[in-house]
Amino acid sequence: MQTRYLSTSEEDMRIAGEIVRNGGLVAFPTETVYGLGADAFDAEAVENIYTVKGRPADNPSIVHIWSRDQLGLITPEVTPMMEKVMDAFWPGPVTMICQRIFTVPYVTTGGLETVGIRMPSDPAARAFLKAADCPVAAPSANLSGKPSPTTAEHVREDFDGRIDAIIDGGPCEFGIESTVIDMTGDVPMILRPGIMTAEDFHERLGVPVIMDPALNKKPEDPDFHPKAPGMKYRHYAPKAPMIIFEGEEEKVLEAIEQMKTEHEMEGENVIVLEFGQNGAIDAAHELFAMLRDADRENADLILAAALPQKGVGFSVMNRMLKSAGFNIRKV
Ligand code: TXA
Ligand code: MG
Repeated sequence: MQTRYLSTSEEDMRIAGEIVRNGGLVAFPTETVYGLGADAFDAEAVENIYTVKGRPADNPSIVHIWSRDQLGLITPEVTPMMEKVMDAFWPGPVTMICQRIFTVPYVTTGGLETVGIRMPSDPAARAFLKAADCPVAAPSANLSGKPSPTTAEHVREDFDGRIDAIIDGGPCEFGIESTVIDMTGDVPMILRPGIMTAEDFHERLGVPVIMDPALNKKPEDPDFHPKAPGMKYRHYAPKAPMIIFEGEEEKVLEAIEQMKTEHEMEGENVIVLEFGQNGAIDAAHELFAMLRDADRENADLILAAALPQKGVGFSVMNRMLKSAGFNIRKV
């Protein structure tokens, strides 16, 4: 298959929309990461996403919409709390888990009676969803297990010749995936942390939200049963082993420098992840691209300092810990 490379022009959006309506797969930019999209109601097309990604069938895909008018196609009831979340965060990097309507295929929901719904803010994502004229099921556009793509080039690396089209909308604004919040219980529960944090929800909704207790547990913990199926898989894994150092800043830098020198003396290629000045926001923006660079540069070892685990730092550390296989050293 020849993959078509599309721009965000009106004509290219028309082409992308047509591909989706005809059962094809289109990768598209969003403000979080690139998604790999298909018509959410076309079970065969969604099945193809799982095949090309190598994604386990029990891991549901998020359904993307551009207008609230589409909600009625996906979920039977819009509760007052859902209205509040949409008013506060949509369009934007927040996915709501809601009851599904029976017409949403089980391949899309990973066999669940619930469905994740998100309205992205990225203008190219919105134009694409409008052109597709149907809700679009889309997991992140990476091979299962690899870091999520934050540029069209990352998508090309994983899927050139295997999907119908890739829309190049430049680098993603945020760089980590949306906050997933379960709206089906009495109190909203964050299942996957993101740029919008528990504090943001509390502030904007006026009520506290809860966190899935699994977010503070390691996979080997017998009580590790995350409610979002995707959270149980080891994601974002670079080829090289990765170690995270936690402790006083000076000691951390010293420990990293020392280990780097030791391994370089053995002839190894050691990469230290150094993020920009804006703390966790820059780390979110840069992490996945840096992990892919490390693979491309044949790193033998990746070292990083832990981020303070609050706000967006907690969300980025959630990804970093998985990348490192929870290999964290206290210094
Ligand atoms: O920012 C994002 O969310 C990106 C862009 C493309 O929108 N998408 C994304 O999709 O990250 P994916 O498939 O890589 O991650 C979706 C996460 C998974 O952890 C999945 O298990 C969870 O959302 N999820 C989806 N539907 C769910 C449901 N009905 N119940 C619980 N978890 C769900
Ligand atoms: Mg993903």
